[in-house]
Amino acid sequence: MRNKHLWIAVGLTVALMALVFVAGWMVGRPAKHETPVPVASTPVDARAVFVPGAGQIDAIRRGVPIDQEGHPPPMAHVENADLKRARAYPMQPPTIPHAIDGYQVDKNSNRCMLCHARANAATFQAPPVSVTHYMDRDDQFLATISPRRYFCNQCHVVQTDAPVLVANQFRDIDSVLSTPPTAKE
Ligand code: HEC
Ligand code: HEC
Repeated sequence: MRNKHLWIAVGLTVALMALVFVAGWMVGRPAKHETPVPVASTPVDARAVFVPGAGQIDAIRRGVPIDQEGHPPPMAHVENADLKRARAYPMQPPTIPHAIDGYQVDKNSNRCMLCHARANAATFQAPPVSVTHYMDRDDQFLATISPRRYFCNQCHVVQTDAPVLVANQFRDIDSVLSTPPTAKE
């Protein structure tokens, strides 16, 4: 046999490759208990109103089970209807009854005051900001908008069609006063 050593070397190499293949297959094979956790396929209504005490875990998950992922709620639409909403209490900043897209409010300019400054209010038929917006922290009246009230969106928000996120039983003072007192209260 001329090539005896060559044949032995080839045979050994083949055997070694087979061994490596089997070992790799054994190691790479997923173990029985490692079946992948099924991802929630049904969309979960992330807009569902949270009802405290109804067996839900917390307000942020909105009743979505802990092993599932709720899809984020759709963006709310800004309402641009010029309709004022009732204020829940006297010092509530009124919601903005118009869209404010592109209204710049920064160090250099305040677009809101173009219409809501006392001097311009008549021209634009906008309600002027109330006196509180000209008062500094010592209750002194300033000639221009107070720095405390400069960034309007800090307190005023646009009106949207966003649903109530957390169920609540808030009643304003008028409805409380109009309810006849019961014997126990
Ligand atoms: C082009 C003029 C104009 C600009 C600019 C403007 N507004 Fe108005 N705003 C009005 C008018 C007019 C009304 C009265 C209601 C209506 O017609 O929508 C109003 C109403 C409001 C109200 C309701 C007041 C109430 O008593 O209920 C708020 C709050 C308000 N605007 C805040 C803002 C804020 C904050 C900005 C800047 C981001 C702004 N507005 C920019 C014209 C304007
Ligand atoms: C720190 C919170 C805060 C900031 C900032 C603020 N407001 Fe107000 N705003 C209020 C509150 C509270 C009221 C209701 C009570 C009152 O008039 O002070 C109000 C009332 C108003 C009203 C109704 C006035 C009326 O007589 O009914 C308008 C219009 C208004 N704000 C516009 C603005 C504009 C424009 C800016 C920005 C230049 C602004 N606000 C900044 C809190 C704020």
